[in-house]
Amino acid sequence: MKRQPLRLAILEATRILEDAGVASPRTDAELLAAHVLGVERGRLPLIPLVDPPVIDALGQLVAQRAKRVPLQHLTGWAALGDITVGVGLGVFIPRPETELLLEWGLRLLKGREYPVVVDLCTGSGALALAVAHARRDAVVYAVDVDPNALAWARHNADARAAEGDTPIRLYSGDVGDSTIFAELDGLVDLVLCNPPYVPPGGELPPEVIDYDPAQAVFAPEAGLAVIRQAVATAARLLKPGGGMAIEHDDSHGAAAPALVTSRKVLTEVQDHRDLAGRPRFVTARRA
Ligand SMILES: C[S@@+](CC[C@H](N)C(=O)[O-])C[C@H]1O[C@@H](n2cnc3c(N)ncnc32)[C@H](O)[C@@H]1O
Repeated sequence: MKRQPLRLAILEATRILEDAGVASPRTDAELLAAHVLGVERGRLPLIPLVDPPVIDALGQLVAQRAKRVPLQHLTGWAALGDITVGVGLGVFIPRPETELLLEWGLRLLKGREYPVVVDLCTGSGALALAVAHARRDAVVYAVDVDPNALAWARHNADARAAEGDTPIRLYSGDVGDSTIFAELDGLVDLVLCNPPYVPPGGELPPEVIDYDPAQAVFAPEAGLAVIRQAVATAARLLKPGGGMAIEHDDSHGAAAPALVTSRKVLTEVQDHRDLAGRPRFVTARRA
């Protein structure tokens, strides 16, 4: 078989993904092509022709993506901040929505030396590892209740440490446990948390329903149960002047700040929007 134009293969892949209802067909087609070729997406225009095995491999991945297997399960990674983490079955895929929460946290750490940071509901470890990468002097603790998520977090933490990042301290535990990280009471500079927050029964795309663990997505009390626990834990752990940021559902723009405000020690309560302009995370400082 002859070499073929990559541009046409990507166009065909885009059409297949569009027909399958994939939200960003062109982007996904390009990212899958880049994955097959082992190059950055931005370098695709520099590759005019590709060999038939490349077209075959791309076709197989596109067929799986058309069945709504998440893009990140096909490539094996997801990005947050300046790092990538391994993801797959059994762990939540970090989302772009969480970038602004991470940025807020890193801004809060500016000017603080050797800050203590806690990532509640760490999943793949993405938030904790992104902080540890950005701030080599930070002491970063992370916790999750799900052993499958923790296995991914351990794998990712080992990979980041091998790259030279300061190792994080990974724990198995429940944010609802009122003694969790008791040794850090009043000592923490920053608490970050992207908990499960989707109200049960909400309609979600197949990539979420079939591949993200339900425990990572849904929470009782109309999605607020784990947020409530995270707020209580943050209020206890933070040192005076320390800050917390908790992600929430776009329907929680009033309810999540209200939960934070109900804790008298938390001040400067502010809700923030995501890149799409929807209410997405609440922040506060320990008085
Ligand atoms: C939305 S995922 C977030 C993962 C990661 N922080 C991120 O942004 O990609 C929520 C995580 O919280 C964990 N989780 C759910 N309930 C929990 C609880 N009560 N205590 C600790 N972790 C919990 C789930 O196992 C899941 O890994």
